[in-house]
Amino acid sequence: MTTQTGHQIAVDFDVPAKMRDGVILRANVYRPVGEGKWPVLLTRLPYGKDFPLGSSALDPAQVARRGYVVIVQDTRGRFTSEGKWEPMRNEAEDGYDTVEWAAKLHYSNGSIGMYGVSYFGFTQWATLIQGPSSLKAAIPIMTWNNPFNGVQFRGGALELGTLANWQLSMGMNVLMRRHSTDPRALGAAMYQLVQDIDALGTQGYHSLPLKEFEPLVRNDVAPDFFLSITSPMDRKQVDPMTIVGKHEQVTAPTFNIGGWYDIFLQDTIENFRIMRTQGSTPEARQSKLLIGPWIHGGFTNPVGELNFGMGATAAMIDLQVDLMSLQLRWFDHFLQGVDTGITSEAPIKLFVMGANVWRDEQEWPLARAVETRYYLHSNGHANSLKGDGSLSTTLPETETADHYDYDPANPVLTRGGALLMTPEFRAGPFDQTPIENRDDVLVYTTPVLEQDVEVTGPISVHLWATSSAPDTDFVARLVDVHPNGYAQNLTDGIIRARYRDFVHGGQPSLIEPDKAYEYEIDLWTTSNLFKKGHQIRVDITSSCFPRWNRNLNTGQEFGSSSEMVVAHQTILHDVDHPSYIVLPVVPIQ
Ligand code: BEZ
Repeated sequence: MTTQTGHQIAVDFDVPAKMRDGVILRANVYRPVGEGKWPVLLTRLPYGKDFPLGSSALDPAQVARRGYVVIVQDTRGRFTSEGKWEPMRNEAEDGYDTVEWAAKLHYSNGSIGMYGVSYFGFTQWATLIQGPSSLKAAIPIMTWNNPFNGVQFRGGALELGTLANWQLSMGMNVLMRRHSTDPRALGAAMYQLVQDIDALGTQGYHSLPLKEFEPLVRNDVAPDFFLSITSPMDRKQVDPMTIVGKHEQVTAPTFNIGGWYDIFLQDTIENFRIMRTQGSTPEARQSKLLIGPWIHGGFTNPVGELNFGMGATAAMIDLQVDLMSLQLRWFDHFLQGVDTGITSEAPIKLFVMGANVWRDEQEWPLARAVETRYYLHSNGHANSLKGDGSLSTTLPETETADHYDYDPANPVLTRGGALLMTPEFRAGPFDQTPIENRDDVLVYTTPVLEQDVEVTGPISVHLWATSSAPDTDFVARLVDVHPNGYAQNLTDGIIRARYRDFVHGGQPSLIEPDKAYEYEIDLWTTSNLFKKGHQIRVDITSSCFPRWNRNLNTGQEFGSSSEMVVAHQTILHDVDHPSYIVLPVVPIQ
């Protein structure tokens, strides 16, 4: 039965699906009424199918009206579903079983699509890699594939900011289930948890040693957090949440959607790149990528402190289409057999910041981008904005190294970036000058640009450095300096010295104090037009806390101690030790 604007719909609440081990997961099912069979759009999330977030990625009622069955399911151990909550550990099997269950529902035509953001982007990939034959298309938005590149660790440093915040917030439902028959105990436990969430940004993040991280020990809601501390950078431990290396069974095309200031930017791009180049079917190789100037789960404008324009929002992408309609064009094509034209369009759509325009691209990285080295220079005093650091494409000759002391008791505080933290630490572009005024931040800036320079693609810093410590960290950030001095953070990265080889497949090992090593820092990716009159800047320091856990510079076992020492850092930039950033410079037509 259709109305002028679409189908009449019905909603069935708490529909049970039995998993292979007998555990029942429950879903809300939105479907057209009547006798027909329709394709199914499935999302599986741990945030509560009955809460607004469950309907945030696609409005289930609107989509059902368009001739789909929409299934919004609570994942295992969450809200109305049975079983134990073990974050990220059961989604492959449960995803597969749910897809096959959904394909057999009497109102389902057997074709399934999956959608959702972040964790419910991950539940898509966890299912995709099992290769269920009924799964025909997916739209994973802002999600990870490698736990060592964002969700747990980055460059060997713990993603403390994201993990502690996320695990504590997930604890609310843990407490609801634990105290479901005792409202008084629930009230007391919730009160404590909320106090700890509210104090995380100002106090909790500072808790040491990490293996006794107080906010999580006190509330006892996230034993998994401590696995990351007791088994850091352990590939076996994170296998259930790992997608990279497992794409070969994926047959369905994926539309990957990300944000330049998203915590999972790089893996969103990687998932696309892998599917495009190694997809096992022609459809999988039709995968697409769209990246806006967005933060994690945030698709509006302004972003951080900056106005990217109305066309930057998901409600009006390129002033042409909203994100829901775009997703439906994808599903209409692959699940309804409607030629929406979406596969004949360019596979990539990017928002170029600075120019504040969307642009279509054909391949990733861009073939026409020229990897250009910008070298660090100084007369030995690049400390802070008042220093003598400069950046140019000229190779250094004899140059005096720069020095700073990194004191973990007084770390550089996180200011903007790709974050998912407490409200004190908002994500996106924020003026970096307050931290660039510190002596433990080295600042290297080009002269004022005489013409526009576009940088779009992967970015890395190669840094020759010594440290007095047996283990320490180096952090690098790319910044666009506006003519009024405003320093816009674009992208950044960290390397923990003991993991310098691990990121290239080697073993972790401490460093020899005062020996020079060449560190590679992966700054992920950006797309930005540095306009004429602006300057390109690189900041080098040793902390970005509490986003990344502090290296205490002792070389002791991870998370085991509160002891900290000051590290004396030297950054070399001479002919034998050139330190530089690699920028993918896109010729301007
Ligand atoms: C998310 O769903 O937003 C999320 C999941 C895991 C870690 C951090 C964020």
